[in-house]
Amino acid sequence: MSASEAVRKHKEFLFPAATMSYQDPIALTRGEGNYVWDDQGNRYLDAFGGVLTVSVGHANPKVVAAVVEQVKKISHTSTLYANAEQSNLAEKLASIAPGNLKKSFFTSSGTEANETAMNAARHATGRLDIITLRHSYSGRSLQTLAGCGQIGWKKLPTLVPGIHHAHAPYCYRCPFHAPDSKSCGLECANDIEELIQTTTGGEIAAFMAETVIGSGGFIVPPAGYFERASAIARKYGGLYIADEVQTAWGRTGGHWWGIEHWDAKPDIMVSAKGMGNGAPVAMTIATPEVADKFPGITFATFGGNPVSMAACRSTMEVIEEGNLLENCKVVGAYLGERFKALKEKHALIGDARGLGMMQALELVKDRKTKEPDPVAVGKVFEEAKRRGVLLGKGGVYGNVIRTGLMLNAGKPQVDELVEAIDAGLTVAAAGAGPASVGTKSA
Ligand SMILES: Cc1ncc(COP(=O)(O)O)c(C=O)c1O
Repeated sequence: MSASEAVRKHKEFLFPAATMSYQDPIALTRGEGNYVWDDQGNRYLDAFGGVLTVSVGHANPKVVAAVVEQVKKISHTSTLYANAEQSNLAEKLASIAPGNLKKSFFTSSGTEANETAMNAARHATGRLDIITLRHSYSGRSLQTLAGCGQIGWKKLPTLVPGIHHAHAPYCYRCPFHAPDSKSCGLECANDIEELIQTTTGGEIAAFMAETVIGSGGFIVPPAGYFERASAIARKYGGLYIADEVQTAWGRTGGHWWGIEHWDAKPDIMVSAKGMGNGAPVAMTIATPEVADKFPGITFATFGGNPVSMAACRSTMEVIEEGNLLENCKVVGAYLGERFKALKEKHALIGDARGLGMMQALELVKDRKTKEPDPVAVGKVFEEAKRRGVLLGKGGVYGNVIRTGLMLNAGKPQVDELVEAIDAGLTVAAAGAGPASVGTKSA
């Protein structure tokens, strides 16, 4: 039983659906850089960053200073008035976004940002149908929930009409049973065409996809996937919406945006999470052709909030000044290699995959049958926590360990993380230790 009063009250006074990780949940009180402390005084390596949201370290001094300075000046304006932090951030985003993405709308969560994107596509094209992906997560409003492709999140069925789920580009569990991603002919992308031809009137508003399917277990689509998928969408009059809620801000290494690993240009792009290093902020950026067709009046009370905007601006400055896109590429590649080596050692690991500082291990009971092993994930979780390392969980079957170290983490943090998972896998393989099953996160 947890000795934490915060945990006790969480259980008593919050919606039970807001589940906490671990058999013995923890309450965090403080963070500094890559580490957090609970209210019992224990220190942990935060290898999940509050679900890939703390990008440049907890309580990053530069971000803290920018936020404090802004709060002292003015902390709310609404979009009825311009504020320089918002205008400047929009200008900055237009200068680094791929293709012709130029106009932004800011909100407070990835859900709102995806909702805005889906509505924008419907308005701009005058069409209704949207293709999303199985295994995806897009938010918790009725429309974004309809877009989700995971049993765990869909406690309400697809209630918004016009949403169709294509097969996921999930190479490890290829829906077309292709032997490998090099000779598969991209059947998962081709399937979008048949989906459109068989479930729509032949014209769609959009194809919307996470660049790396995050909550679904860091599923990295194969080379050529987004080029093919977006071309098919456009052939049927649809726009391409890139959901970069998890994959933006350098997280995938070497680029600001995950989609820059492919040669596909979105018409609308969405992000949130790591954007403000923990500030509640999100963006929907679109081409002028799309943005200009969004009907007014539209309004989001907290959208473009100057404090959140200052957090974003300073987070981006820390990324630029620290050359963190490169750090994420180099340290992320090192982590990827170490995970591949772990796979050689532990039969429980069916797949090790990821991009940059977004690396995952999919655990299976048997490498041949690929039967998911969520219990083993629970055991690794508990053992890693005992050793002072916090992890993330994911996948439709709850059998994926997800990690999201800070963009400014180094090799020592990678080694600390890998050692804890290694020990956890040894415990899990022996069938020992407690397991905490069922605490996935978005
Ligand atoms: C890819 C993706 N899209 C959208 C969302 C929804 O974001 P939020 O929880 O901020 O509403 C999430 C949340 O995890 C996500 O991972």
